[in-house]
Amino acid sequence: MSVKTHQYEVVIVGAGGAGLMAALYASQKASTAVISKLYPTRSHTGAAQGGISAALGNIEEDRPEWHTYDTVKGSDYLGDQDAIEFMCFKAPELVYELEHMGLPFDRTPEGRILQRPFGGHTNNETGKPVRRACHAADRTGHMILQTLYQQCIKNDVTFFDEFQVLDLIMVNGKAAGVVAIELATGDLHVFHAKAVIMATGGWGRVWEITSNAYAYTGDGAAIVLRKGLPLEDMEFFQFHPTGIYKLGILITEGVRGEGGVLINDKGERFMEKYAPHVKDLASRDVVSRAMYIEMKEGRGINGQRYLYLDVRPETVNKYAKIDGRTNPDGTPYQVTAEEILHKLPDIIDFCKTYLGVDPVKEPMPVQPTAHYAMGGIPTNVKTEVLADEKGTVVPGLYAAGENACVSVHGANRLGTNSLLDLVVFGKEAGVHAAEYATGAAFEPLPGDAADFARSQLDAILNSKGNERVADIAAEMKHEMMDKVGVFRTEEGMQEALNKIRELKERFQHIHIDDRGKTFNTDLLTAWEIGNLLDIAEVTAASALARKESRGAHSRDDYPKRDDQNWLKHTLAWRRDGEIELRYKPVVLTKYEPKERVY
Ligand code: FUM
Repeated sequence: MSVKTHQYEVVIVGAGGAGLMAALYASQKASTAVISKLYPTRSHTGAAQGGISAALGNIEEDRPEWHTYDTVKGSDYLGDQDAIEFMCFKAPELVYELEHMGLPFDRTPEGRILQRPFGGHTNNETGKPVRRACHAADRTGHMILQTLYQQCIKNDVTFFDEFQVLDLIMVNGKAAGVVAIELATGDLHVFHAKAVIMATGGWGRVWEITSNAYAYTGDGAAIVLRKGLPLEDMEFFQFHPTGIYKLGILITEGVRGEGGVLINDKGERFMEKYAPHVKDLASRDVVSRAMYIEMKEGRGINGQRYLYLDVRPETVNKYAKIDGRTNPDGTPYQVTAEEILHKLPDIIDFCKTYLGVDPVKEPMPVQPTAHYAMGGIPTNVKTEVLADEKGTVVPGLYAAGENACVSVHGANRLGTNSLLDLVVFGKEAGVHAAEYATGAAFEPLPGDAADFARSQLDAILNSKGNERVADIAAEMKHEMMDKVGVFRTEEGMQEALNKIRELKERFQHIHIDDRGKTFNTDLLTAWEIGNLLDIAEVTAASALARKESRGAHSRDDYPKRDDQNWLKHTLAWRRDGEIELRYKPVVLTKYEPKERVY
């Protein structure tokens, strides 16, 4: 394989919302390239539906302090409060910045950005849901992606589309570039840089039922782990309550924001039992667990592993009346089928296409779906990557968006905080990486810079076994879904860890059919499954060690949160084939942990 070399001051890996926002800001000061395995507007940010949170108070009173507290509480007190406060106070400025870039938000009759309620977003004085999610129908992420990409094109950002980054180059302990394969030709490219920003998104593809795109294979996190750096809080992976039954495709929480309710086989609105104050708008960990309990106790629809999400106007209007829900002018909240169609066009379309169900006439069959990584590459608020529990910075290396753990989501993320996270910290990454790059020199590039990347591909291409990659992937996904999912036990997690290790061994004996150079998706899929196996192992090992229940990590054998022993972040390294775990304290500023009541 021939190797081509490029030089940019800042190289950004990933072209989702975080990568594009970073690119916009980095490119103002430094020569910048974005490398993406996809065409940028196919990035998974485009799948985010319901909104981006900001306490604009356009519809009713709201405050950044309330947003901060809700996020801390939603995180089950594991989020770092300095980072959360930073994000929530930046939110209004960033949302207006997106608006000024041209993002077509929905509007109030007066022309202000329209907002809807979302899980865990409350008026801290009344405890009632507050309308904080700014939206563009149910295509908010898609609109952010398109808007940012257009701005990047306008600002002459350089893109390398359909280039898969395989390795991070480190010289003298500093990030010095990346190595990528060009999908169209199979050529290796070395990108020599002063600063590298990892923005490759999450890894929901570890699980069987997921809302995540096929591309969400944890590439950035796996690459960083292989460089001897740690990953933080990997045990916390969010299951979104409403994925399309069996397919996992996201049905936005915005459906419940617009008044939709979850119903069991007995026709009960069961969330009343689990979260008497905010009901269907409790935080996602609470709702997903309630759904599992309903199904386990035999109240899944027809005894099956799904429940109904009902947004038919008659249902919405019935429960709005019971809840005493009103419009901003105090009139009773009521919706028509036309309004539902207008507010949730993609959801209606997905359900018709994939289920043959029209949500304004029939309820939607849903089940919890693996959705979002709260953990990831540890960073500080400046998005600098951290090498250890003492906060030692890796010079020149930055991470933002879902692959990073800053940590604003702690043990459970609130809906719409993901889009906020990626614009706020994407911008920080761009600003700080460019600042660093303008004051730093290029580290000399080692002659063997591409060797590790090449050796990974050669190992797959030359592997002579008869194991099929698809079989290994299917077994991993099934095991993780079953044993490292919404509910967990010591025995189950240990079995999952053993299984993942067995699968990693079998992965050494795979066979792929395509040995060509051009668009070899067989080769790259195998490489991605290798990443997922590494991520699954760290996730299971981190989860097994945490002997408490907190946020998305819920153990039958340790059902309570244990602040005495576990109010701390996990850091996991892969060393000599073993997972080493260490811990660091959570940053608490204003809010002492207390019991969460929804
Ligand atoms: O439900 C949703 O629209 C998802 C939003 C999010 O994950 O933040």
